[in-house]
Amino acid sequence: MTEHSISNSEIKDLVSQGLEAASAAATSAALQDVRVAYLGKSGRLAAHPYFQTIKDANPEQKKIIGADRTAATTALNAAIDARKAELEVAELNARLASEFTDVTLPATPALRGSIHPITQVTEELIAIFADFGFSVAEGPEIEDDFHNFSALNIPESHPARQMHDTFYLKGDGKEPFPVLRTHTSPVQVRTMVSQKPPIRIIAPGTTYRSDSDMTHTPMFHQIEGLVIEKNVHMGHLKGLLHDALAAFFGLEKLPMRFRASFFPFTEPSAEVDIGCKRGKDALVIGEGSDWLEVAGCGMVHPNVLKNCGLDPTEWQGFAFGCGIERLAMLKYNIPDLRTMFAGDVRWLKHYGFNALDIPSLIKGVAA
Ligand code: DAH
Repeated sequence: MTEHSISNSEIKDLVSQGLEAASAAATSAALQDVRVAYLGKSGRLAAHPYFQTIKDANPEQKKIIGADRTAATTALNAAIDARKAELEVAELNARLASEFTDVTLPATPALRGSIHPITQVTEELIAIFADFGFSVAEGPEIEDDFHNFSALNIPESHPARQMHDTFYLKGDGKEPFPVLRTHTSPVQVRTMVSQKPPIRIIAPGTTYRSDSDMTHTPMFHQIEGLVIEKNVHMGHLKGLLHDALAAFFGLEKLPMRFRASFFPFTEPSAEVDIGCKRGKDALVIGEGSDWLEVAGCGMVHPNVLKNCGLDPTEWQGFAFGCGIERLAMLKYNIPDLRTMFAGDVRWLKHYGFNALDIPSLIKGVAA
């Protein structure tokens, strides 16, 4: 479309006044007033006598007046829109500048919080496993019998249930009662029934057992791992756990052994020990001739695959689970489990981590 130049000089003046007013508007609100004043229903353009003459004009004049009207409206709209964009950027920048908070400034000591070692270790493990291509899966802390037990090949009255000191909930009064999950393994089930394999997940989370002594608290944390593929075996499992644990402890090589064991949901099953030296004052990981148990693992039992709708002749996989408190105590020399949940600020000050120190493999999670 070729541009129409406005034929009426009064309208020309009106438009140039409007353009000036638009560029002089210092705020979005002032600019909106300009828009209403010039382009509103009874604004200066609509109310101008020249445009009123259109009613009585001949077809030729009507065309010119109409084109003048369009050209005037277009010019004013364009100028106002352009100014609007400018003002919005300026206003946003002003707002960003005035609302800026430097989160790296030190807080007053009384207000400074810290990251609990459990959270720190969880984040470290997530960073390590993310590097192996694992994503994080979650499940509820209140579980049903199917996910916590029966799908995991732990049928009712099976002695394996006694391995777990379960907290039962009332639910709707009917058996089987819901439970506070006794391990993170139910997340395996939830993942397999909801996702198509191949699967590669870890599931860190809170778990509960009715157990309380020097080395047990009723609430604790585990991290679960699950890999489902067509051709994975114990060798992959061992290699993965070695590399992950070595990275966690900041060691190139970590003496590690699999000890045959039993879990209902894996076959074969193993417990994972890492090499250590028990010194007089401290425990040294990665040296010496002692062993320390850190995880349970194995090949996913065919019954578990079946219970989750997978064909065990097509899919196989491995799983592992370990206690996060245990790993935190070993890595950060925390001697007493129960202090972890005492909520003592002095303890947190000593063992806590800086909230801005987010674990990452680049920086090293073993600092
Ligand atoms: N769920 C087990 C427990 O709480 C730990 C465990 C062992 C998890 C072996 C696994 C596994 O995934 O393969 O004692």
